[in-house]
Parts: sequence; C-alpha cells; structure tokens
Amino acid sequence: MLLWTRLAPSPYESGSGLPAERVEVRWELALDERFRRVARRGKATAHPEFHHTVHVEVDDLAPGRVYYYRFRVGSWVSETGRTRTAPATSQRTSGLTLAAVSCQAYHDGYYTAYQHLAQDDVDVVFHLGDYLYEYAVNSVGGARNHTDRVLPDLFNRETTTLEDYRLRYALYKTDPDLRAAHAAHPFVVTWDDHETENNYAGDTPENSVPPEEFLLRRASAYRAYWENQPLRRPQLPDGPDMQLYRRLQWGRLAQFDILDTRQYRTDQANGDGWKTPTAESEAASQTLPGFTQERWLIDGWRRSRALWNVVPQQVTFSRRNHPTAGNTTRSMDSWDGYPASRERLLKGADAARVENLMVLTGDVHVSYAMDIKRDFDDPDSHTVGTEIVTTSITSGKDGSAQPSNWAGYLARNPHMKHYNGQRGYVTVDLGEDSARADFKTVPYVTTPGAPVTTAASFVTEAGKPGLRQV
Ligand SMILES: [Fe+2]
Repeated sequence: MLLWTRLAPSPYESGSGLPAERVEVRWELALDERFRRVARRGKATAHPEFHHTVHVEVDDLAPGRVYYYRFRVGSWVSETGRTRTAPATSQRTSGLTLAAVSCQAYHDGYYTAYQHLAQDDVDVVFHLGDYLYEYAVNSVGGARNHTDRVLPDLFNRETTTLEDYRLRYALYKTDPDLRAAHAAHPFVVTWDDHETENNYAGDTPENSVPPEEFLLRRASAYRAYWENQPLRRPQLPDGPDMQLYRRLQWGRLAQFDILDTRQYRTDQANGDGWKTPTAESEAASQTLPGFTQERWLIDGWRRSRALWNVVPQQVTFSRRNHPTAGNTTRSMDSWDGYPASRERLLKGADAARVENLMVLTGDVHVSYAMDIKRDFDDPDSHTVGTEIVTTSITSGKDGSAQPSNWAGYLARNPHMKHYNGQRGYVTVDLGEDSARADFKTVPYVTTPGAPVTTAASFVTEAGKPGLRQV
C-alpha cells in the first residue's frame, strides 16, 4: 500500500506557504473509519526538495481488505482516506470492480464524473493519462467560468518548469470532486502526453525544440508527476527517465500490465495526425512501447497465471478506420500508426496463449467498446480480446452522445460495438465467468451538478472473447 499526501497551507504559492525545511508527518492506518482499531502508525518526512509531498509505503498488511488512513502535523489532522490491499496471489477471489478514467482538462469543465465515481463501490481506479494539461488556465478556470474565486495569473501560461508543473498539480488537486475520488478509492496511475506536452514521442517534442532542451522539460514534468501521484520509490525519476510501466496482481483473478506508451516510442510517422499508412508507418522499426517494454509485456503474459490479463494504457489499440467512405487515413499517434508494434504484441499474445485479454484505453475523449481482431482487415478473423476505451472526465467540454461521425465510425468498423461522445468513466466487473463493462456518462460538465447514467453495458465471457451488449 502506498499512502500519499502533500502539505500545502497555501497550495498556489511556490513554497506552499511552508518554510524550506523538513516537516515531520505522523500517519495512521486503521481497520475502521473512526480509528478505533489502528493497524499501523508511523512517521514520515515531508521534504521541501519534494515540494512537501509524502509517500508512505506500508508493507505486510492483511491481503484483500479495506483500510482507512489519515495524516497529522502538530494539531492539524487531514481528512480520512479509504484504500485497500489486493488479495494474495494464492487467494481465491470471485470478483473485482475497477473503474477507468482519463483526460481531465481543468479548464474544460467540472469533475462531476468524479463526484459520482466517489460514491461508487469500486475496488480500484485506473487513471490512463492526461491527469493534467499543460495549457494555460485563465482566472475563471476556462469553461468552468467560476465566479466565486479568481485564479492567480501564474496558471495563465503553458507549464514548462518544475514550478509550473508542481503548481498545476496543486490547482487540479484542490478540486473537491477529484479529492473525493482519491479519498474514496486507491488509484493506479499512468500518464499520456499532456502531463508533459501534447503528442511528444520519446525525446521528440511537438514543436521544433532540440531534444536536449525538451528533455529538461520532460525531467521537470516527470518529477512533478512522481511527487504528486501515489507512486513508489522504483518509479522515482532519474532526470528525464522514469520507470512507470509495472505489473500488479489481483489474486489469481487478474494481472494488470500497466504500460507507458510515451517515454520510449519512436516518433509518429508521416508527420503525425490522421494519415494514409505508408512504408514509414508500417516499418518494423516503429514501436509504441519501445522494444524492451514490448518484450516485458509478452514475457509477463507467458508467465501469467491470471484469469484476466488486463492492459491499462493510453492510446487506442484497435483499428479505427476513418468514418468517411474512401478516406484511408488513420491516427498516427495511436497503435494504428505503429502497426508492426501491435502485430508483435498480437503474435506474442498468441504464442503465450494469453487468456482473456482486455485492453483499457483513454486519450480520445469518447468511449468505445471494441473487439480486438487478429486481423482488423478481416471481420471474420479470430477475436483475440476486447478493448474498453474510457471517455474523458472533462476534456472536450460537454460533448454529445452521438457525434456527427457516429454512424460512419460504426459502419466502417464492424469490430466497434459502441461509441459515445459524452464525458464520464467506465466501470468493469471482472468475474470468474465473465466481465461486464458499464459506460457511465454525464450530459454536461461546463456547469456543475449533472446526473450520471449508464449509456451502455457490455459483457464478454471468460474463454470466449467478444463483446455482447446487455
Ligand atoms: Fe486527453
């Protein structure tokens, strides 16, 4: 278990309102919300070098149970958080409910989806990237257009320095709905591009900045990410490098291979954007996770003893043919722009006889449910697994249930079983016989208070991949 907090009496000031000194923080972990049955307590140090963030790793706890935690500094006591341990690998586990979220541009709207997620009974939340956006946020919070407070000018510029990124996390993490979701559920996080810069690839930035200069920015972004997320010591960055991809087990029920498809990718082919495939994009040298991470994933599948093999990652894995007939372009930033890399993984999954593959995806600000085909050009080919794409929490503002290209997408992609353009999140119940995905949507985010509905639900059976609407 990893417990996280940050000391920040004045969160929007560069020094957080604290002197540049170490602060001792006491923490408590209990079996009950009132802390009558304390399971563990200890002390941690909040370092100014880490922006007074605190990461407490607690080991040897009872598997498969809920805990409550809080922090104390002097007479000040934090709110109570709720988290849980995963079941032991040897433990028989009948079910797991996860949520998947992504893309939470603060300036595009309110985190109403998080308000609802905080009330849901889920075991764990996977954040699939774009936790923050580097773009400027004006004094009224962009589309939030709030009238009750004025944000300082320092947010009204693109983040490039360590201080910029740190303060941007401070802005996001003071949102009450995001805080409620973190307090209610454990989060497993991975990033996409906007935690650093739009559509960067490895050491290649979006614009014509020299790699050595971009790597300084990447180092700042990665450091602020580590400081502000519940991440362990092996994830602590070394300059511009950070080991984010990692493997988690949930009893025998599920193995999670959490990918990083930004740090090691080759540059987008054909100048990025939606382009017709060429020899450049089809080349075997193109890789999205990097060759080392590709081998690590396939090796993990080979060793896996889990019923469900889940891959939380960022960009769309399945083919998306353009919604307009005759248009042969595909997204060069997603797996469609790195088809040789995807083919190596599909071949590896075959060879490893990986069972019940489920890819969890963010990035595109819409939800999709797709069958992963062995050959996307042949609708009758074998279904290897399923891909569940979660829409954005806010990015793209209100959206609509059926965007103008809705019918075109479904017609030109027979493996696509669902497409919805509203904001929200996904919950997935993994069971011994089947998995069920519920796509939760809110009708608006530019004003607060939207209700949540389940737009669609799908089931895939264990041992027989393929989505069926229920
Ligand atoms: Fe995004």
